[in-house]
Amino acid sequence: MNKNTSPSFPQTRMRRNRSQGWIRDLVRENSLSPHDLIMPLFVIEGTAKEEPIASLPGISRRSIDLTIEHCKEIRDLGIPAIALFPVLDDSLKTDGGEESFNPENLMCRAIAAIKAAVPELGIIGDVALDPYTTHGHDGLMDGDEIKNDASIVVLAKQALAQAEAGVDIIAPSDMMDGRIGALRISLDSHNFKNTLIMSYAAKYASSFYGPFRDAVNSSGFLKGDKKSYQMDPANGEEAMQEIMMDISEGADMVMVKPGMPYLDIIARAKDTISTPIFAYHVSGEYAMLKAASENGWLDYDSCLAETLIGFKRAGCRGILTYGAMDMARMLQNS
Ligand code: PBG
Repeated sequence: MNKNTSPSFPQTRMRRNRSQGWIRDLVRENSLSPHDLIMPLFVIEGTAKEEPIASLPGISRRSIDLTIEHCKEIRDLGIPAIALFPVLDDSLKTDGGEESFNPENLMCRAIAAIKAAVPELGIIGDVALDPYTTHGHDGLMDGDEIKNDASIVVLAKQALAQAEAGVDIIAPSDMMDGRIGALRISLDSHNFKNTLIMSYAAKYASSFYGPFRDAVNSSGFLKGDKKSYQMDPANGEEAMQEIMMDISEGADMVMVKPGMPYLDIIARAKDTISTPIFAYHVSGEYAMLKAASENGWLDYDSCLAETLIGFKRAGCRGILTYGAMDMARMLQNS
């Protein structure tokens, strides 16, 4: 039987392959493993501090010492990597976001401490200025404009500080043009040839980032919106161009973000490129599942599992999700 000839009933009964658990197990096209998952983490100053995030039930901001303990659990669940985000004291935010490249900043100290304590866990460092700026934008501002080329200079310094602290993967989430090439050149020229780059290549100007902005305390600061650099949700062709450009500039992996509303982008990219594709199942998507399940309207575990297998089916190599540990536990017990 050729893929193009359509099988017909009653010679073909599709339900035979669904009739019992063992046959469903046998014909399944995609699977999920803890190795497919990346856990995002929010780090704060202090010791023995844990602050639950109201809009992300089950997720907390943690001081470095508690983050390390959490990372050991993550490693023991078989999750290969974390995506680290710093939550800055308001007093450190400036117009120019200078704290972002201070080698002693919270992010760099967290990277070094986690790497020393849990060396087998991959660390993905967010590179963007929004946690560090008084205006909450990912780049530098001049009047109402987010400056592209000037921002890249600062982002390159930020990436270098993280590389020096021992980060494994630099993940620029800022959507400035040309930043992947600039970061690659800068990393290479400082002898960080093996530091990987996971590009937030197709990142949309989404309303699903709300809880994340609460988590990093940037929502109250954000002036205006991010539509002049993040993508228009109406565009798909443009995402392919973004992805191709980032690969040609040196991205080792590309990301589509958010996840569920953009599965078509993942599938299209999968048909076009062989570079590993990741999805960010973002804060608002996770919060929706949690809120519905807390109301008794959805079953969190099975909806999470269905969501994550959907990313694999669409063509993702891996998924950043706040449900990574929940999913890994489910897989462990199944
Ligand atoms: C900002 C950044 C955002 C997220 C990751 N990095 C938010 C934004 O662009 O405003 C969102 C992640 C999430 O919602 O879980 N550089």
